[in-house]
Amino acid sequence: MQLTILAGRANPALAEAVASALGVEPGRCTIEDFPDGELQVKVHDDLHGHDVYLIQPTSPPVSEHLMELLLLSDACHRAGAVRVAAAVPYFGYARQDRRVHGNEAVGARLVADLLSTRLGRIITMDLHNPAIEGFFNIPVEHLSAVPLLADALGRRLSENKILVAPDLGAVKLAQHYANLLKLPVAYIQKVRHSGTEVNVLNVVGDVYGRSPIVVDDMISTGGTMISAIEALLDEGCLPDITIAATHALMVGSAPQRFASLSVENILVTDSIYHPFETALPIKRVSIAQMLAETIKRLHYHPSSWKS
Ligand code: R5P
Repeated sequence: MQLTILAGRANPALAEAVASALGVEPGRCTIEDFPDGELQVKVHDDLHGHDVYLIQPTSPPVSEHLMELLLLSDACHRAGAVRVAAAVPYFGYARQDRRVHGNEAVGARLVADLLSTRLGRIITMDLHNPAIEGFFNIPVEHLSAVPLLADALGRRLSENKILVAPDLGAVKLAQHYANLLKLPVAYIQKVRHSGTEVNVLNVVGDVYGRSPIVVDDMISTGGTMISAIEALLDEGCLPDITIAATHALMVGSAPQRFASLSVENILVTDSIYHPFETALPIKRVSIAQMLAETIKRLHYHPSSWKS
């Protein structure tokens, strides 16, 4: 079975890096925006006898990238692909994993259902809630960038560092870092008022005189991280603050908001493509090799695929 890597428009640089790590040329496709807002996807290769891996995080604009992924998968099947899988390192809608206020849609479940109808397998990374794996009707490879990010933080950190979960949802993630880095953990109780507004209720743990490393699965508007940093400074932490997150969406004015804070290091992965230049102290760790190794393992030792 031949292997084809195909990129949507969400993160072509990552797709190139994955293809290069696998020693293959990316497949050819075009994606066109129609004046009425529809997308048209065409695959230009004959994919008979091929296993295709689409590389497409469903990052902002989330709905557009999701639709591209579905259309790409459809086009690959029509081009003869034997099996179509997707690497969706950032899974948009993950935060809509349950109902919070009455009759809300559970977006994560709906998106998982949609993807399960068109893909045979999915590779994703540091899902907002690991239980989302169970929403899919296809096998899911749930990877974590935490070991890569922990390596980049350095395994010989000074003893006055402390890992901080900026909300209760991030405690297990912070514990994962803590186990690798042999550091203590503190956490923050946060309340979210809207998509952009969060408040800190309490800092739990002794952060006084320590240098915090605040870790989360994602940074979107930056509201969570920024409120956490402000609360930590109020509690007397040292000002050399590091933040680490797998997915750096950095939407809206997030870069400017971070620029006004004393953050020494912002450590993220390249799961989300950012074409803009920034003066922020951002270090990006590539997940391309990890995705490539996963694809290689699945391609050469395929187990249960949904056909
Ligand atoms: C929510 O629980 C997530 O883990 C993140 O903390 C949150 O989504 C980050 O969003 P923002 O940067 O907009 O606060």
